Amino acid sequence: MKIVVLGAGYVGLTTSACLAELGHDVTCCDIDGDRIAALERAEVPIFEPGLSELIGKQIALGRLHFTTHATKAAGTADAIFLAVGTPSDANGDIDLSYVETAAKTIAPYMQSRAVLVIKSTVVAGTARRVKALVDASRGSKDIAVASNPEFLREGSAIKDFMHADRIVIGADDAASEAVLREVYEPLLLRGIPLVATQTVNAELIKYAANALLALRIGFINDVADLCEKLEGDVGAVADGIGRDHRIGSAFLSAGPGFGGSCFPKDTRAFASTGRRHGAPQPLIETLIERNELRKEALADRIIDAAPRHGRVAILGTSFKANTDDVREAAALTIIPRLIEAGLDVHLHDPQPNGAKRLLPDAHWHTSALDATRGADVTVVLTEWDEYRSLDLAELRKAMRGQALLDFRNIIDRERAASAGLIYQGLGRSGIVVQPARRGHAITAKAPVAASPA
Ligand code: UDX
Repeated sequence: MKIVVLGAGYVGLTTSACLAELGHDVTCCDIDGDRIAALERAEVPIFEPGLSELIGKQIALGRLHFTTHATKAAGTADAIFLAVGTPSDANGDIDLSYVETAAKTIAPYMQSRAVLVIKSTVVAGTARRVKALVDASRGSKDIAVASNPEFLREGSAIKDFMHADRIVIGADDAASEAVLREVYEPLLLRGIPLVATQTVNAELIKYAANALLALRIGFINDVADLCEKLEGDVGAVADGIGRDHRIGSAFLSAGPGFGGSCFPKDTRAFASTGRRHGAPQPLIETLIERNELRKEALADRIIDAAPRHGRVAILGTSFKANTDDVREAAALTIIPRLIEAGLDVHLHDPQPNGAKRLLPDAHWHTSALDATRGADVTVVLTEWDEYRSLDLAELRKAMRGQALLDFRNIIDRERAASAGLIYQGLGRSGIVVQPARRGHAITAKAPVAASPA
C-alpha cells in the first residue's frame, strides 16, 4: 500500500519506519526542511534504539522516502497518517490546531476513498470533528477519518510497534476499517489481536490506558511512602501484589514520579475532558497533583540530606532510561530547586543532549564517576543500566560524603553499605532478611538504610 505520514517527530518517524518494514511504500513528510534533508541522509534527530538503523535500511530498500511536499505525496496515498504534535495548554487541554490544519491542508489533495488516520493522541470526538472539516474542505464526503492510537514507549518503540499487545483501529464505517486492517495485515497474521471499534472509543482507549498505567505508578509511589514509615519494602509488596494475575507486575516500580511526553500531558487532557463534559475524573485529578508534589518532596529530601552549600551529584536527567527525552522529567523540577537552595549541582546522563538544552548552565560531566567527585550526596534519578553496575567502592572514594539516594531502587543496598555508603532508596528502608540456606535459619539484620546526615 502507499502510505503518507505527516510529521517526522518521534511517533511519525517510528510509524513510518515500521510501516515500511511491514512492506508498505511510505513517504514521511514534515515542514521542517532541515530535518527532512537530514533524514534523507538517514540522520535521525532523536535517540531511539534501532530507529536510525531501520530508517537507513528502509531508505536503501526504496520503501521509505522523506519530503516537505506533503500535498504532492498525498495524491496517490491509500492512507494518510497524521502524526503531528498535540501540545497542552495551561488548562491541561490539548491544542488540536496542528491536527486540524494538517487535515484541512491535505484533504483537497487526497484521492477519493483514501483514509485519513489520526495517529496523534487526541481527545475523544476529534476524529468526528476532523471529518466535518475534511468534508467541508473537499466539498464532498468521500474521505473517511479513522483513529489509530499508538502505544509506543520511548526506548522500545520499534518492539512495541512490531510486537504490540493489540492494534486499536477506530473507524466509523466498514470501508475505512478494511483499509486499516490491510495496513496492519502482516502483524495481524502474526497473531497480534485487533480491537476494531468506533473512533470515539479508540480515542478513549488511548487516554484511559495511559491514565490507568499512570494511576498504578501513583499508587505504588504512595505505597512506597507507607513502606518507609513502617520499615517495609515496596519491592516485596509490588512483587506480592503483581503475582496476582488480575493485577500483573508491570508499572509497579516506585520512582520519582512519572514524566515524559505522554503520561503527564495525557492525564491532564483526560481530566480536563472529564471536567468539560460533566464527568469529572477525581482519581486522575488527585494523581496529577500528587505526582507533581512527589517531585518536589524528593527535591526536599535531597536538600535535607546535603550540608548547606554542599555538592550534589545527579545521575540521570532523562525521564526514564534509554532515551534523551527530558520532557516533564523529575530532573526538571528537582535540579532548579536544588540550585535555588544554594547547592552545587553536578550532572551526568549517558544521553544528555535534551537536558543540556534546558539546563545549559549546570555542571555537566561525561562520566558518572566524575560527576560524583567531591559530592556530599549522590542521587540516582534515572534507571540507566550503567548506574546499576556502578563501582560503589570507587563511588565512595570519589565522594566527599556518604549519602547515596537511589530514587529508582536499582542499587543493591547491602553492596552500598559494604562500600561505606549510607543508602536510602524509595520505600525500602526495611530490615534486610538474608535468604535461608539449607539447614540455616533466616537471620534478620538491622536496617542498612539510615537517614543520611
Ligand atoms: C508511555 C506509554 O507507556 C505508552 O504506551 C504511550 O504510547 C506513551 O506514554 P513512555 O512515556 O515512553 O510511554 O514511558 P513509560 O515507559 O510508559 O514511562 C512513563 C513514566 O513512568 C516514566 O517517567 C517512567 O520512569 C515512569 N514509570 C514507569 C515509573 O515510575 N514506574 C513504572 O513502574 C513504570
